[in-house]
Amino acid sequence: MNLGPDAINALLWLLHQAQQAGWQWLDAWGLTQPLHGQPGWPFAHRLAAEYLLTEPGQSRRLLLALASLLLLALLGALAWRWRRARGWLAGVALVLLLVTPWPDWRLLVRPTVPTAFHQSPNGFNATSIVRGQRLYLAHCQRCHGADGRGEGPDAPGLTMWPPTLNGSLLWKRLDGELFWRIRHGLQDRHGQSTMPASPLGDQQIWDLLDFVRAQAAGQSLRQTGGWMHPVPVPDVTIDCQQGSRRLSSLRGQRLRLVLTGGPGPGATEDPRLFSVAVGQDAAGLDCQADSEELAPALALLLGVQPQELPGHQLIADKFGWLRVRGQPGDAQWSEDDLVCRTSGQPVPMSNPINPVQAQTVPADGLDAIIRRIDSEPVRSQRGGFPH
Ligand code: HEC
Repeated sequence: MNLGPDAINALLWLLHQAQQAGWQWLDAWGLTQPLHGQPGWPFAHRLAAEYLLTEPGQSRRLLLALASLLLLALLGALAWRWRRARGWLAGVALVLLLVTPWPDWRLLVRPTVPTAFHQSPNGFNATSIVRGQRLYLAHCQRCHGADGRGEGPDAPGLTMWPPTLNGSLLWKRLDGELFWRIRHGLQDRHGQSTMPASPLGDQQIWDLLDFVRAQAAGQSLRQTGGWMHPVPVPDVTIDCQQGSRRLSSLRGQRLRLVLTGGPGPGATEDPRLFSVAVGQDAAGLDCQADSEELAPALALLLGVQPQELPGHQLIADKFGWLRVRGQPGDAQWSEDDLVCRTSGQPVPMSNPINPVQAQTVPADGLDAIIRRIDSEPVRSQRGGFPH
């Protein structure tokens, strides 16, 4: 019997936490070298999660192997305390060693870099995305192309064609791994440079990473009509009647961003959502984001030009993931607006979101969408581990 996706996710999460705890423990004992402002990972390898994801049978083997290791440790402790039983305890240990379906340990680890577990100081915000865009145009576009597909003007002259930054590549690596590669460059098997090391500072590289993730999201939406990988709400300061606050402080509520200045009557407050107007006009909503960076960052995420933004709406779930896009001129919400999905199943039918609200809120298709984003939370993977 193989493990289901929830069990595999839980196992991956546990492995990731154990790996991180090990790193912090090494740091507490002074066994790591600080670099780029954070403690370094002292090994050349890390656990490889992809393998467990692609071959579910391996998760079961790994679980059994972990249980076996635990039992062996217990037998060792017993033998230490209980000298006379050592003979038969050794026998039990031998049988356990022989019957355990050990996984192939070489496949459970993959090469990594010293900054593997470094965290971006940005937390994906609108300012860093826009700063990253400027840096990308100056330093990366000539090879990776204006749209990140690897077709820049210098690409044909390189020994290796640059990969597209819009596919799954960015999500297969940990943030710290991408950071290291951009900072220190890449070589092929013969030690020949394939991508040059970057002269940029640490903060600038984290900004670039926010930008390439935003660009990849927009390209995915343009080409497939959906976000292949989940996108968080870019953080920014907003002004509300009660004062200023950060968008990230609204986690726990469903958030709606309304890009003002579009055609039609405009949005009104909706009890099911916390609404924020994006643009110079508050459009009658309680909160407004008038930052110069939020609109360009959202244009990137949506894969549209900034002048095409007015009239768009975005809805994020309670965990801060953008899930729904309303396009200019859309009078009604429909399931097609759900651009970040976790399954292809139909909307679950159950009671309205809130029976009291149901009497005051029109049946506009939004109820069904909300029910779905609430019942199907996003699972995001980075380097194969849940985040
Ligand atoms: C001279 C051309 C060139 C420039 C300039 C360049 N790259 Fe690259 N980049 C490449 C090539 C070629 C590869 C593939 C290298 C390989 O796999 O060995 C690559 C790979 C990458 C990867 C994938 C790394 C991985 O983990 O596989 C990322 C991300 C990336 N580049 C981002 C950037 C960013 C950001 C910049 C701007 C600071 C940049 N590149 C500048 C040519 C370039």
